Amino acid sequence: MAIERTLSILKPDATRRNLTGKINAKFEEAGLRIVAQKRLHLSEAQAGAFYAEHKARPFYKDLVSFMTSGPVVAQVLEGEGAIARNREIMGASNPASAAAGTIRKEFAESIEANCGHGSDGTEAAAREVSFFFAGTEIVG
Ligand code: CMP
Repeated sequence: MAIERTLSILKPDATRRNLTGKINAKFEEAGLRIVAQKRLHLSEAQAGAFYAEHKARPFYKDLVSFMTSGPVVAQVLEGEGAIARNREIMGASNPASAAAGTIRKEFAESIEANCGHGSDGTEAAAREVSFFFAGTEIVG
């Protein structure tokens, strides 16, 4: 399987509860490497632009409000099949349906406060990584 890079965001519920280390330990134990990382407080414009594809969804306004409610950690994960691996390790979006041992089963509070975001495909990964990082900020 190819070595890929994908965008991971640790959401405000994860930073608020001081869980970033515990969550990242799961990615690292699974063999993914954190090759870029920054902690930032998203503006409404940034969160709105990042989630533009969900603009028509009923949860969009709440999602933007939640994602700007506290700091996030944006990071690039690298490894074999990293795009799918990241999503597997996180588990289903809704913690009630997430498999045992996943980040969301263990830590998420709700479908909104669900600890993390992961790019859902190759195109999204390229777009989302470049949303947060310049090429020179990614060090493998
Ligand atoms: P994420 O992977 O960041 O991408 C879109 C986010 O929208 C998703 O994680 C969830 O946190 C959120 N989301 C998806 N469906 C719902 C929903 N039905 N209600 C509230 N938030 C949702």
